[in-house]
Amino acid sequence: MLNPLAHACCSVVSLALFASSQLIAQTAVRPQPDRQQWYLDAGNMTYVMGVNEQGILQSLYWGTKLSAGGFVPRAKSLPERASQYAPAATTPQEYPAYGAGIFPETALKVNSSNGDRTLILKYESAKVSDSLLELVLRDTKEPLRVHLYYQLFPEGLLARWSRVENIGKNSFGVENAASAAWNLPTGTGYTHRWLTGMWGGEFQLNQEPLKAGKSVQESRTGHTSHEANPWFSFGKEGETTEESGPVWFGELGWSGNWQIVTEYTSLHQPRITGGINPFDFHWTLEAGASFVTPKFYAGYTDGGDGQASRILSRFQLQEILPKRGETREPKPRPIIYNSWEATEMNFTGDTQIALAERAAKAGVERFVIDDGWFGKRDDDHAGLGDWTVTPKKFPQGLKPVIDRVHALGMDFGIWVEPEMVNRDSDLYRQHPEWAMQFPNREQSEERNQLMLNLARPDVKEWMFHWLDKLVSENDIAFLKWDYNRIWSEPGWNTAPGSSASHPNPDAEKAIYTEAVRNLYNVIDRLRAKHPKLEIESCSSGGGRVDLGILERTDEVWPSDNTDALDRQNIQYGYTQAYTTQTMVAWVTDVPSMDHRLVPLQYRFVVAMQGALGIGADLTKFSDADLALSAKLTAFYKTIRTTVQQGKLYRLASPMMGEPSQMEYVAEDGSQAVLLAFQHSQRLLLAYPGVRLRGLEPNAMYRLHALDTEKYSGEAVVSGSVLMGAGVNLTLGGDYDSTALVLERVSRQ
Ligand code: GLA
Repeated sequence: MLNPLAHACCSVVSLALFASSQLIAQTAVRPQPDRQQWYLDAGNMTYVMGVNEQGILQSLYWGTKLSAGGFVPRAKSLPERASQYAPAATTPQEYPAYGAGIFPETALKVNSSNGDRTLILKYESAKVSDSLLELVLRDTKEPLRVHLYYQLFPEGLLARWSRVENIGKNSFGVENAASAAWNLPTGTGYTHRWLTGMWGGEFQLNQEPLKAGKSVQESRTGHTSHEANPWFSFGKEGETTEESGPVWFGELGWSGNWQIVTEYTSLHQPRITGGINPFDFHWTLEAGASFVTPKFYAGYTDGGDGQASRILSRFQLQEILPKRGETREPKPRPIIYNSWEATEMNFTGDTQIALAERAAKAGVERFVIDDGWFGKRDDDHAGLGDWTVTPKKFPQGLKPVIDRVHALGMDFGIWVEPEMVNRDSDLYRQHPEWAMQFPNREQSEERNQLMLNLARPDVKEWMFHWLDKLVSENDIAFLKWDYNRIWSEPGWNTAPGSSASHPNPDAEKAIYTEAVRNLYNVIDRLRAKHPKLEIESCSSGGGRVDLGILERTDEVWPSDNTDALDRQNIQYGYTQAYTTQTMVAWVTDVPSMDHRLVPLQYRFVVAMQGALGIGADLTKFSDADLALSAKLTAFYKTIRTTVQQGKLYRLASPMMGEPSQMEYVAEDGSQAVLLAFQHSQRLLLAYPGVRLRGLEPNAMYRLHALDTEKYSGEAVVSGSVLMGAGVNLTLGGDYDSTALVLERVSRQ
């Protein structure tokens, strides 16, 4: 056992330097052993917990930063309320386990081999190292320890996760093991925001007053899902706006079934419990073994919803995305051309080269061949699983196409969907047992494909080896990693502890966890072996976006819906939770899937809100359209670092009214960019003035308009005027758009 007093006078402070902003942010774990409390400082947030008189670890504070000398009251269990609520139910516990009369949502539910299905976890020890705190709890009767981890990040985030450890001689059955439970301050007047969606309509932002009872956001699809995204945000009614007021927010790092339960008890205690979804979950915890839960990240700010997003964006750029930890700036995304919408699977090497030639003229930096290059893949009935180049389309293999793409000054990427198989494939004919299945149940096909069981070690190895071979034998800079169906028949009768003759349904449920861990393992090994390789996470659009997959992929395809109007809502929701650097957006042909006709520039400026790409059939572009595309990509290159890595200010929501605007300010403040849109003009009204945010009041900025006729104000303007009086733009008619670039020319 660790001695808690060993750290009695230990206060660990780590300093982190943001090279880009020269901003010194700080994390500190401040134990107060005499008070049995731990104070965790991350950016402008402090989080406190303590051990109460019963030895239970209690949540004490989560809010704005507390100065080092100030203490919150010691932990003390709350009284029972009549005989209906034991103190276990009234006291906000850090990691409540089912037992001792607790009925609100619990983080842990375990059954013991002696039949006991309850736990009472008491504090045992603590360990502090750098910006990591480990608190160890132990059940009062059973040989079970729970390790709670708290990792601090200078951007203002805290990651929490747990490790459930069997220190006995018999196994335990784990029915639920959340990553963390987050208790907000007891009170009223909370608002709850969350993201839901569907194929073609991901990242829809919801907001409602927090009501008594529970609401559950979750995935049961096997992956992160389109239906809901594992992000939450709470504000206060009448206080929280886009730019001010308290916000408690967080998101999960897990790409399988997940759950976030938002509970508002009758006693006005808001609590968010989340992690791997307990639905159809079971884990057999053998003697001596541990089960580690995924990370659940959360933060707090006084700066409103916009600041919460900026904290998440900075955090993802610095700490999550691949290349994290390197001293240089994260690399902004190149301008991609993707041929899917232009050709679908109907192409040859020559038709791809024709597109690549046009793409290079349009200023594209990376050319990507999508689905259809492998096996007998002429439509979606066949080929998945057979990852060799189809000679019919590429008689000399990929090399001539890749060489031509390189000669045109672009790098090359290709589409894969590794976790899937068509029945009409050599792989399925050889290994029908690799597809997920129950022995007597028909397998459901979706898009004519089956799920491979990636929990199987042989599937994992096969997957790594063909991907490694593909990337080793071809000069491939980028993979678009797709995933186009959800799970069904999640059987695994070769799971440890199960067999065809003695199936063990509980043992087979490990499939949910193992498949995700193996996915992470394959990508991690591939990236380690090919350090320059970049990857996009796609799942029929934005079905797999979470901090687990973003630790190993560089960008995301947020939606198959590229309609410029719908995209603004999708992107507005996406930026609540994820950095614009990962938000790939292509300019595509019109009419869109909503049958909408929108001018080319409007489509471009919408796509410039994130990582600009092109997916239109460029062989059909007129010379004028190609010239406009080249002009707009050249313009985008001048603002890309600010857009992808700067601070985002959502000035006007596309969901609220007609005009919408997004503004980005470079991390070092030297540039700002305004992207402004008019959906449809009415009543001859002029476009409203746009007041900018996040500038230095005393600095002077030189303004360049993308369209000189749409901005006729002063060329050099002070930050205070830009933020106070704003700028007037001449946008009119339907689907008008422009961009304004502000370069800081002097500071006082
Ligand atoms: C999914 C993706 C698309 C495209 C197709 C190819 O739908 O979201 O972008 O790659 O698969 O089959």
